[in-house]
Amino acid sequence: MPKLIVVTREGEEMELEGEAGLSVMEVIRDNGIDELLALCGGCCSCATCHIHVDPTFVDRLPPISDDESDLLDSSDHRNETSRLSCQVVFGDDLDGLKVRIAPED
Ligand code: FES
Repeated sequence: MPKLIVVTREGEEMELEGEAGLSVMEVIRDNGIDELLALCGGCCSCATCHIHVDPTFVDRLPPISDDESDLLDSSDHRNETSRLSCQVVFGDDLDGLKVRIAPED
């Protein structure tokens, strides 16, 4: 299974196995990392699944939609590598992807 590397808000780095076809949010949540709230369950309406993506992977992700971008605008912690993790489908093409959970708004 492809690997996902997650850095928590406290700076702890964890290597997770992720099932291809799940969203990055689901991989993180299913591995028991509860600081990623994902309150809307992946409907792109809450922005509590905000992550910062390692810059070396940004170009390999699907383009950001208008809805995702609008939601990210509501965060004080948006930067050029911000994504909503529920909107990024994980898979073999993203093996080794490294993300950091964004600070809570
Ligand atoms: S889980 Fe709500 S926007 Fe991603």
